[in-house]
Amino acid sequence: MATWRDVMIPGGKHPWHFFSASPEIPTLQVSSRAAPAERQRELLDGLLAEQPVIAPKFLYDAQGCALYSAITQLEEYYPVRTEAALFTRYREEIASYMPRRSQWVDLGCSDGGKSWAWVEAVGAARYVGVDIAEEWLQLALREGRRRCPGVDTLGIVADFTRPLELQAVKAAARKLPPVFFYPGSSIGNFTPGDTLHFLQSIQQHLGEHGQLLISVDGLHEPEMLQAAYDDALGVTAAFNRNVLRVVNRELDATFDPALFRHHAVFNADESRIEMCLEARETHTVRLGRQRRRFYAGDSIVTEYAYKYSGEAFNALLEVAGFGNIRRWHNADRSYHVFLAGVRKLS
Ligand code: AVJ
Repeated sequence: MATWRDVMIPGGKHPWHFFSASPEIPTLQVSSRAAPAERQRELLDGLLAEQPVIAPKFLYDAQGCALYSAITQLEEYYPVRTEAALFTRYREEIASYMPRRSQWVDLGCSDGGKSWAWVEAVGAARYVGVDIAEEWLQLALREGRRRCPGVDTLGIVADFTRPLELQAVKAAARKLPPVFFYPGSSIGNFTPGDTLHFLQSIQQHLGEHGQLLISVDGLHEPEMLQAAYDDALGVTAAFNRNVLRVVNRELDATFDPALFRHHAVFNADESRIEMCLEARETHTVRLGRQRRRFYAGDSIVTEYAYKYSGEAFNALLEVAGFGNIRRWHNADRSYHVFLAGVRKLS
């Protein structure tokens, strides 16, 4: 059954976005956020490149978030269900390895929904929601106060495509060891090089007793992957094409979503799903003051989703400087949850 939380989407312009009327103003800090002009530059550079690209973060406007919520309910989209089952099954065991009185740092928190059971299980003293969307943060913090009264809450606006620098978390790390929580296998959207940088930047926040709890999608049959990213109802196709509306708004561009086809393929050599938009016919699109001609069959890359074997991701964690690595997975080892801590010098 859908609840109000399933339809609460960032944007602030929706009639049901009534929570901002609450007199309680949660504490928000801004760590990193691109100015509108920088976002436009990034989009324009990507779209004028030899292989056009649109970064996945642009997929998530209000409409995109609603479509992603719909994706998570699809029969073919296995990751969310698989992760939820693993969390439920192993929560107590995983929590037993975590520090008490920690700061729970929810990276990409959205409404915080995946965190509350953990915050309760580990007895965290502080909840830190981190997200690019301020609207989500407001929601997560209000929900956190309601679900976990007595837990201190803080929201930090951060864009993960920029270096992670959470001063407030670092400053409190000695008293409250941070547990970074990065669920949803979103790590797969980074290229391997960026993955390493991101993991290293988390590692540098840990202090002596901090940890990282992260979900990583594993290797699957290509047919299963294909179906998960190109579902029969066309929800993922709509999610993908919606990014062209975002571009039209942000760049004053003239994309016609109907002229692009959703395409998702598994590239076995790179171990990644490649999601793109393919031009159905040759046409020219205005991008603000510029133009670009798309020939029939040309594609715009909108998202990579890397899939890792447990061994490969474990190795990446080690290279990033983590130690004390523990791993849980489902029966066919196709989805992994890692808990990684600080490497002790011997
Ligand atoms: C939210 C990044 C985990 O890569 O599986 C879903 C996004 N893209 N269907 C993923 C997505 C197409 C999703 N993540």
